[in-house]
Amino acid sequence: MAKTRSVFFCNACGFESTRWLGRCPQCEAWNSFDERPFAVPTRAAKAVASARGAAPVAIELGAIDSAKIARLQSGMGEFDGVLGGGIVPGSVTLIGGPPGAGKSTLLLQIAGRLCKNGRVVYVCGEESAAQVKLRAERLGIDAPLLVHAETNLRAVLDALERTDPVALIVDSIQTVWLPDAESYAGSVTQIRDCTQALMEFSKRTGCATFIVGHVTKDGAIAGPRLLEHLVDTVLYFEGETTGEYRILRAYKNRFGSIDEICVFAMHDRGLNEVHNPSELFLAGREERPSGSCVVASIVGSRPVLVEVQALVGESSYGTPRRLANNLDQARLAMILAVLERRVGMHLGTHDVYASVAGGLRVNEPAVDLGIALAIASSFRDRPLPPHSAAFGELGLSGELRSVNASARREAEARKLGYRTIFSPEQYRDVASAIAAALS
Ligand code: TYD
Ligand code: MG
Repeated sequence: MAKTRSVFFCNACGFESTRWLGRCPQCEAWNSFDERPFAVPTRAAKAVASARGAAPVAIELGAIDSAKIARLQSGMGEFDGVLGGGIVPGSVTLIGGPPGAGKSTLLLQIAGRLCKNGRVVYVCGEESAAQVKLRAERLGIDAPLLVHAETNLRAVLDALERTDPVALIVDSIQTVWLPDAESYAGSVTQIRDCTQALMEFSKRTGCATFIVGHVTKDGAIAGPRLLEHLVDTVLYFEGETTGEYRILRAYKNRFGSIDEICVFAMHDRGLNEVHNPSELFLAGREERPSGSCVVASIVGSRPVLVEVQALVGESSYGTPRRLANNLDQARLAMILAVLERRVGMHLGTHDVYASVAGGLRVNEPAVDLGIALAIASSFRDRPLPPHSAAFGELGLSGELRSVNASARREAEARKLGYRTIFSPEQYRDVASAIAAALS
């Protein structure tokens, strides 16, 4: 007979403890601890288990069947690209984002397209079947999609055993629940157990599963981050959700590279792919004012041109403000220090705001030179030469360092008509690049 013990964990963040706590030490939520019993195997049970498992279970690498798995194509080339070239059967993908980002819209569009491969089930826990139907009509979906308006995941999975679908969409993980887990829908226990049940189903049957997860304001999946560890692929909508454009980025991918993005435009009939994001992020700006610099960046595996903007103004308070939007705050601080010490720009009494236009987050060091040029241009109130672009990493002594894929960055910039390129290939340090750009 196995003994049972209890473990306590926080409903808000998943923190585990051996005893009940009034306040979570990790997320500081009050009264958020739930108890969960678990069976401790007895010594006899362990002995039986190890005797049973005595046969060799490890298989030599060469003997494993590496049958190539054919990926499903959603028919949206950009979306398939983010996943690494299509949807892997049996994979579980989490699509996260704030409300209104377009998660349901995107998945309904993809569900409709996947119907040509076999049965596709859309589990709607948030909306009624009639609401899904209305949306599908608006999106012009005319496919034999199966809609299951049910939040009891046990009932859904039982029905799925008979349906044998190629793809399953669960919208959203926060609304479904399992009767065996003693907690409310959306709690850490339910989210974890439901995800595990979905993983088990997908791996066993080869059904590709998409899970929708709502994200709280601070960017965490409401409830636990542990969902990210369980699933194969994590995609998040980033940037603003109020405008026309939506950016979907791969944060984790067991079947492809991370940081891959695809861009959509939200129209009255759903999301349309944007095939050339560079043109979008630079849209409609022939003449650039001071403080603006085009940067040839690499996002995922492809070059994308973005506009870095800076605004430098005299500070009216004692401590100047430094604000980075869609850029790394620490990089901005370092670039300011380099400009101050190595270029002799006295920014100590100035507020500096730096931002990437269009909502795309750019984290790579290759954006350094672009930020430096934008700040210098705003500080001297002189625009950079027309049709110019920049890339390059800044060292602490003011030197410019080469970055990866510089040929591809330059080619993308030239393709879009940027003739003057500021890069480590031409300038040894940031001071000479600034002198040349603002001469
Ligand atoms: P939705 O997909 O429901 O977002 P989520 O599931 O991530 O919460 O809807 C996203 C927004 O897009 C919503 O505000 C309505 C709007 N929308 C359109 O502009 N056009 C459309 O065709 C659809 C279906 C939605
Ligand atoms: Mg939704």
